[in-house]
Amino acid sequence: MPELDSPQRQMPDSLMLTGFWYRALSADRVHRNRLQKAMLLEIPLVIGRDRLGHPFALRDACPHRGMPLNCGKFDGENIECSYHGWTFDAHNGQCQHIPSLTADQNLKVERIYAGSYPCEEQDGFVWVYIPDPGPPGAGFTEPQEAPEAAPQVEKFGVSGGVPQEDKYKIAYLTADMPVSIDHGIIGLMDPAHGPFVHQAWWWRSRHSIHEKKKNFEPIPNGFRMSAHTPSSNSAPYKLLRLYADADSITTTIDFVLPNLRRETIRAGKYWFSSLTTVTPITRNQCRIDVVAAWNIFRWFPFGAELLKFVFAKFVEQDRRTMELQAEGLQHNPHLMLIDDADRPAKWYFQLKAAYLEAKRTGGEMKHPMTGPVTLKWRS
Ligand code: FES
Ligand SMILES: [Fe+2]
Repeated sequence: MPELDSPQRQMPDSLMLTGFWYRALSADRVHRNRLQKAMLLEIPLVIGRDRLGHPFALRDACPHRGMPLNCGKFDGENIECSYHGWTFDAHNGQCQHIPSLTADQNLKVERIYAGSYPCEEQDGFVWVYIPDPGPPGAGFTEPQEAPEAAPQVEKFGVSGGVPQEDKYKIAYLTADMPVSIDHGIIGLMDPAHGPFVHQAWWWRSRHSIHEKKKNFEPIPNGFRMSAHTPSSNSAPYKLLRLYADADSITTTIDFVLPNLRRETIRAGKYWFSSLTTVTPITRNQCRIDVVAAWNIFRWFPFGAELLKFVFAKFVEQDRRTMELQAEGLQHNPHLMLIDDADRPAKWYFQLKAAYLEAKRTGGEMKHPMTGPVTLKWRS
């Protein structure tokens, strides 16, 4: 990859990766008695819950004449299209009934499908698996299976493999970003904007900029900023070390394709863990969802609210920045990635390219990193 790369000039078909789970909607927006619209990777979806509360996701277009299915009637099991009354099983999309057929017309109704997607609820979000596009032949495809379960926020101190809900707290927040998934992601992993965008008296100021050295290593489909004692110049970490009575605090930050950022902080028996995703909605619109779980300061009555407040501030600063950036990106300027601060962004683009190349050839994915790397920057 040349030194100056333009993330703007991505191949149009490499913008949004298929074959992965994506967060579609926060679970509290999906109700039994209402069909909800959503969009992932420019695919319109209708999402709902069956009688038992299990979520489902269908392509929001009737296979007959394209009517959005979210306008239809839902009885807790089947969706009836509002145009000609065809009904479809909400989970697998199989056609159940076509009202216009006469008794002697033997169209094989059960061979017709509305497109459906694997759907799971995890840590307060409804996740939808977006498979690789199948062969053309819309309206006749059975649902595909997801190769693995949807990602989860990591929780520690679990007994018998089941995390005890009363032992930790969980909270989420969401922000829409008017930029492509690529800019959303590289903005999230970019260490150099912190002192300029995220100034706050209780966090750090631009005067606290100093040289940093961090170790990175390859992991499957991504890279890890290896465990270390976090920077001593931030008040929250100082406080945490005091509170947890731990000699060291270890933090790991993983990035994994297509859009997952996992952060884990452990101090003695205390932990904080988050799973942030940047979800492609359209090619120039994405959404950041942060879900955090922790057992630190659990006794503190406003723990969740306080943490949400701090996070919301950060995310809002990023959102505002990207809103302004989107103006600058409108006319396709030339962009650059510099070493070392933009190296994670370079890895991201290389990982994406390697993933697509492996798909194209059917071979193994070739990881762009050959081993551990130390990066230096000032922030
Ligand atoms: S468009 Fe849906 S039934 Fe005709
Ligand atoms: Fe940021």
